[in-house]
Amino acid sequence: MAKKEITTVEEMPEVSTKTVSKKEITRVEDLPGVGPKTAEKLAEAGYGELMSIATASAAEIAVIADLGEGTAAKIIIEARSALNLGFETGLSALEKRKNIGKLSTGSKEFDNLLGGGIETQAITECYGAFGSGKTQLSHQLSINAQLPKEQGGLEGGVLFIDTENTFRPERIMQMAQSAGMDPEKALANIHVGRAYNSDHQLLLVEKAKDLVKDNNVKLIIVDSITSHFRSDYIGRGTLANRQQKLNQHMHALQKLADTYNLAVYITNQVMSRPDMLFGDPTAPIGGNIVGHQSTFRLYLRKSKGDLRIAKLVDSPNLPDGEAIFRVTTEGIKDKE
Ligand code: GTP
Ligand code: MG
Repeated sequence: MAKKEITTVEEMPEVSTKTVSKKEITRVEDLPGVGPKTAEKLAEAGYGELMSIATASAAEIAVIADLGEGTAAKIIIEARSALNLGFETGLSALEKRKNIGKLSTGSKEFDNLLGGGIETQAITECYGAFGSGKTQLSHQLSINAQLPKEQGGLEGGVLFIDTENTFRPERIMQMAQSAGMDPEKALANIHVGRAYNSDHQLLLVEKAKDLVKDNNVKLIIVDSITSHFRSDYIGRGTLANRQQKLNQHMHALQKLADTYNLAVYITNQVMSRPDMLFGDPTAPIGGNIVGHQSTFRLYLRKSKGDLRIAKLVDSPNLPDGEAIFRVTTEGIKDKE
């Protein structure tokens, strides 16, 4: 018997007509199981895009859209598959890692600790007590990100989310001058968003996509990541809610880091741990959520005078260790 000639995709073995005629999903209302009413409810609650659905939890969607958790979970799975989230080959992961940029801190010793500098496609969390240099480093990175690659820069703009009103243009100008840059040009490349509360902070990051694209942003700073969350969610009863929002925030930052090959630097204060009798009785705020979702964690502490010690606490591919640097009028420098 002559084998039937295959001329259309439907005639191929293993391909059912269902697969072929599947409509492309580009909007929330295209998702199976989402009618116009549900889409409207979701959009009103800030879930108007496939990405926000794909990264939500079934419990969240169930409550917002008034659905069973099973249905909500199916909708999330559909959104994920429509966005092609999920697996990539080891080869394409390697290809992506080849594009990782390294942003210099201003100190060679500090850079060495980080394997060359702060990485793009990753979140670097810096925690430490007041005056340990977290904000000073954020200002220095805002300058350095604009430098040519040969000088440890990323040749891009900066998005600075300021939650504690600590961004100082005068300090930027001072550091820019020391780096041999035009101070006003340096300031023009830094886009500052002042966050007034934790929801506002979330929104600033969720709406950052266009700004990032249009201004070739290569560094996003959040100084600090937890202060609003700490004051907005007081009491144990709201802790789960807080952690969930913080989780969403960290996800949004990581997504930007991956999509636009940019570096994310976040600061975090420490709380004292009176229960700890030996060693350094401090722990970063935000607990596991911030810690687990940061690729690199740095602990800064004060030493004599303008000396500071940076300790690499958690890194996927670098040995833990310490570096000593200096916070000077000119900016972050080597100790000698
Ligand atoms: P919190 O936000 O309070 O938790 O602290 P932080 O870790 O952000 O500290 P920050 O980076 O603000 O460090 C403040 C310290 O940096 C000051 O105590 C000074 O030692 C140093 N510093 C800040 N500005 C200057 C400056 O213009 N010149 C010099 N030489 N040092 C500065
Ligand atoms: Mg600070």
